[in-house]
Amino acid sequence: MSNKIKFILIGCLVMGFGTRLHAQNPLFIPPTLTGTTFNLNVQTGTQNFFPSNPTPTYGINGPFLSPTIIVNKGDVVTLNVNNGLPVATTMHWHGLHVAPENDGGPHQSIAAGTTWSPSFEILNQAGTFWYHPHGDGKTDLHVSKGLAGLFIVHDADELAAGLPITYGVDDIPIIVQTKAFDVLNQIAIADHMDTALFVNGTLDAYLTVPAQVVRFRLLNGSSMRSFDFGLSNNQVFYQVATDAGLRAAPLALTRLRLSPGERAEILVDFSALQGQQLDLMSFSSEMDYGIFGGPGLGAGMDTIHGYSENPLNGTDFTLVSMIVGAPTSAPITSIPSALVPFVPFDPIDADVNRTIVFDTLRLLPTNMPSLVEGPFGFNGETFDMGVINMEIPLNSTEVWTLVNKTLIAHPFHLHDVAFNVIEKNGTIPAPEEQGWKDVVLVMPNDSVKFITKFITFSDEMMPYMYHCHLLHHEDDGMMGSFLVIDPNAGLVETINTNSPSVFPNPSTNRVYIRFDESSDISTNDIRLVDLFGRKCEVEIRQEINGLSIDVSRLSKGIYNYVIVSSDQENSFQGKIVVD
Ligand code: C2O
Ligand code: CU
Repeated sequence: MSNKIKFILIGCLVMGFGTRLHAQNPLFIPPTLTGTTFNLNVQTGTQNFFPSNPTPTYGINGPFLSPTIIVNKGDVVTLNVNNGLPVATTMHWHGLHVAPENDGGPHQSIAAGTTWSPSFEILNQAGTFWYHPHGDGKTDLHVSKGLAGLFIVHDADELAAGLPITYGVDDIPIIVQTKAFDVLNQIAIADHMDTALFVNGTLDAYLTVPAQVVRFRLLNGSSMRSFDFGLSNNQVFYQVATDAGLRAAPLALTRLRLSPGERAEILVDFSALQGQQLDLMSFSSEMDYGIFGGPGLGAGMDTIHGYSENPLNGTDFTLVSMIVGAPTSAPITSIPSALVPFVPFDPIDADVNRTIVFDTLRLLPTNMPSLVEGPFGFNGETFDMGVINMEIPLNSTEVWTLVNKTLIAHPFHLHDVAFNVIEKNGTIPAPEEQGWKDVVLVMPNDSVKFITKFITFSDEMMPYMYHCHLLHHEDDGMMGSFLVIDPNAGLVETINTNSPSVFPNPSTNRVYIRFDESSDISTNDIRLVDLFGRKCEVEIRQEINGLSIDVSRLSKGIYNYVIVSSDQENSFQGKIVVD
């Protein structure tokens, strides 16, 4: 039986209101890591999702998936990310406010067999964050194979709000991911047949919940698919957190849409439901055109890529079947009326306005841009490791306008800081999107404005990222970089005293050597030597603020670059690892 048919059958068993059957597998609750030092061993593994052919997977401290990291605001943590994969990867703390060198973007490559140990203070307020690889062109593959985990931050305001807080008991992680498999049961990426629905890595999951108020931390960790969360009995639930923190007060809802990368925390009151069964569902039939997972993408995409054959697209299906059991000994039985103080940014304070246009970089034979097929880009450009797309002054309050000129909805994610959505297509955003966000879904032809402030961290060399969180769009170049620059720091700095930043290092392809702006180092001033001091024949290219070296033809190993500038004043040397 082909996988496609297998999943259509599984889909039929669990879908539909009338014919509900018991799901097969208890929902897996990822184990937790607490304290201030975290050892994350990234490794390969296999899983038997199907009777034949085990599936090769990736995991952290196990063969598949990643543990839940739990910290407190104000902790100073060290994360030892040991890369036991045969290839380089990276680890990004999605939503955490950290310095760019700790952010784990594509510039912080971790070579196979090495450990990266960022250390930083937790500055975020309580919320549900997550961590996942972010390698240049490799994000979708590494996430899909199993590298994604929750990163929970607690703080005093949250404790005072009286929310359920016992992990795995009344505070339940729900990581929803769909995956596609090829004929050999290998996880496939950039594939429209993502028919296998995993919650916390469990197919066809059920969960026994206590008859009281239960908090669910929802993460859409899928590569492409959005979900419209709701309950099978259409009972009201209460959103208590958006992506990056708690709301001022719970918001009553019956549906909540999360696109890839987005999180929410919700409370469900099961107090009166002991002995009953209900499902956490996605009502994907209710989605608009243009959203992956909804009824259609339009403009011929549905038939070209087999979109309409995927049984999850545009239908309503169960995410987790829930059986309501006995309450715990000290249950929370009511929904709090207020949560934490919420003071959003005020547009009156905005210093800078920027516009990012989502466009397609694919031209049709008629020379017209294709509006539905990627690669997509921002402002006509594709991601380039060696290019800085924006320089942002530290402490500036900025309003960004995102304009989607394609026919696909794209979830836009900003690193470093959270933002407030202030306008969606000319109107105030829906209440569930008012709060602290770091991902916002931008519908076809829409224009979305958000406001944020770039505080705390500046770095003249190391950029942060912004990108589409459809992982295959990100990998294909729908990403840009920005530096946060302290305008006052430059006044006291002497010219050319900074050693260059070198990235990615290790590298398989092209390595960039970036200087501060005043450098006049040229391609003649640099050479690359092996460990015996022998000069390597490599192509060296002039870049904005630096140079790049094509190392793709070199054998794996350690090399040194040596720079002697014409005025002899600025000599550097350093290591480059070719992976
Ligand atoms: Cu969750 Cu830049 O990513
Ligand atoms: Cu996209």
